[in-house]
Amino acid sequence: MKHLVDKMYDFHFLSKDEFISLIEHRDKELSDYIFKRASSVSHQIFGNKIFIRGLVEFTNYCKNDCFYCGIRKSNKNCERYHLSDEEILGCCQTGYSLGFRTFVLQGGEDGSYKTDDICRIVDSIRRKYPDCAITLSIGEKTYKEYKLFFDYGADRYLLRHETANDEHYRKLHPDNMSLENRKQCLYALKEIGYQVGTGFMVGSPFQTIENIAEDLEFIQSFSPHMVGIGPFIPHKDTIFKNEKPGSIELTLFLISILRLILPKALIPATTAVGTLDSKGREKAILAGANVLMPNLSPIGVRKKYALYDNKICTGEEAAECKSCLEKRVESIGYRIVVDRGDYGQR
Ligand code: 5AD
Ligand code: FES
Repeated sequence: MKHLVDKMYDFHFLSKDEFISLIEHRDKELSDYIFKRASSVSHQIFGNKIFIRGLVEFTNYCKNDCFYCGIRKSNKNCERYHLSDEEILGCCQTGYSLGFRTFVLQGGEDGSYKTDDICRIVDSIRRKYPDCAITLSIGEKTYKEYKLFFDYGADRYLLRHETANDEHYRKLHPDNMSLENRKQCLYALKEIGYQVGTGFMVGSPFQTIENIAEDLEFIQSFSPHMVGIGPFIPHKDTIFKNEKPGSIELTLFLISILRLILPKALIPATTAVGTLDSKGREKAILAGANVLMPNLSPIGVRKKYALYDNKICTGEEAAECKSCLEKRVESIGYRIVVDRGDYGQR
């Protein structure tokens, strides 16, 4: 199987069947090999730099009902909140003084923020922080809306495709959502000129290795600027509450595959990885990840943005989070850098 790792290293491409055999035949030796190759690619391109993005979870209202997600509309136990413009700008202010130069505004699909509201928020951040990147992660919108947000100054957009298999997509989402629409959104975002992030959950209910190979194939052809993956973690108020969580070991292996097929990509060591394994984010960096996305949301709301159970870093203030992450990355020979960390940047 090492020849497939070498092939990815040389050509950044595998077929679906090759992805399947690689994943099916992985063992400790192969994992060590792929981690080494993937981290050498990261080093060639990024040295020992780790980029940080400040995450502002500004609303947990959501009109969607994804079966796996803790903030889904039908979860009556979810205590809802959304932040005012002032609160959002306050998070950016705190983040800026800590050295963040990317703000990620993430939220559920909250219908109470109209197009104009998002434009106004983006506009005020853009005017106040001309040197920062603004990332939106607010779900499926129309082409026109995406274009408006972009024109007001949003630079990047995160929208995980969740699974590239249509049948699997339907097992995770209600009938009014479709993979087709999700993909259309991703193509629109790219066409408009956003740096686009996509991704999927590892070990989501009903997922097969073939599905994962389809995710990798999709990512390979779409060629996003960022790819976020993390293990599925059950949430107690969803129908998947008794499902088992995804595997960290497989997640790390897939991070290495992603680094080899998309050498310049921004790949976060996600909070979900850190939630299932206390050293998960360090392991993800050693497997090829190069981004951390700590929380800048006000402490009082952090626990409420619970997509899954036992989410970490819901108690610390932003400054503590940042110094904790600094210590963590330094312990494995990396360093956090203060800049926008644009795609393909060395
Ligand atoms: N476990 C892990 N990840 C989840 N997400 C949503 N619910 C869960 C869960 N239960 C992920 C989805 C979404 C991202 C913001 O969080 O992939 O796109
Ligand atoms: Fe938030 Fe460690 S990253 S406390």
